[in-house]
Amino acid sequence: MPNTQVRKYLVYVIAVLAACFATAALVLRADPDVARSTTTHAANPDPITRGRYLVKTTGCNDCHTPTYAQRAGEVDEAQWLIGDSVGWQGPWGTTYAINLRRFVQTVTREQWLQVARQPARPPMPWFALRDMTDDDLTAIYQYIRSLGPAGTHAPAYVPPGEPVHTPVVRFPIQPTTEEAKERTAARS
Ligand code: HEC
Repeated sequence: MPNTQVRKYLVYVIAVLAACFATAALVLRADPDVARSTTTHAANPDPITRGRYLVKTTGCNDCHTPTYAQRAGEVDEAQWLIGDSVGWQGPWGTTYAINLRRFVQTVTREQWLQVARQPARPPMPWFALRDMTDDDLTAIYQYIRSLGPAGTHAPAYVPPGEPVHTPVVRFPIQPTTEEAKERTAARS
């Protein structure tokens, strides 16, 4: 290629690159999601906002809010976390996701931190709460309290072999470890 052609080509490449960078900068600045996530990490939001975010993203509603999972989360926030009367049945008996809206009104922050981290029967992912920071658990507590009490109590736990009068989700598999069995025994 003659020299002038090389120069023209380079100018063209530089122009295209500059246009790309300019577009990327505009898109990044305009995208509210990018802006929001940057703020979220930079300045800690207030605990209630953080708590709502954690409840939404860590799955509490999937079990503690009736029909939340089936409706892909399209449930009015006023109905969130009121507990569910669909039972979870397995070798541990039948468990029901409790009404967290009422429960948080009855415990102090310190009691919440303790209860949230103690073993619960399946399928409650208590081990996920155990591994959350005090700040995150406190944020969840404050958010749920801010919603106020609502709903009735979920049905009480039913030991294995006893009659159950609600719909249930049956777990087909047996507990895999002795430890799981011991935990269930310790809680009954
Ligand atoms: C897969 C379903 C499921 C999910 C997801 C779930 N829970 Fe639960 N949760 C339950 C069930 C079932 C129980 C009742 C367990 C029992 O009877 O021992 C329960 C009980 C609890 C209890 C009472 C524990 C105790 O020791 O008495 C708390 C507190 C709780 N859940 C908080 C949460 C929070 C906060 C989240 C979200 C991070 C969450 N749960 C997610 C099903 C679930």
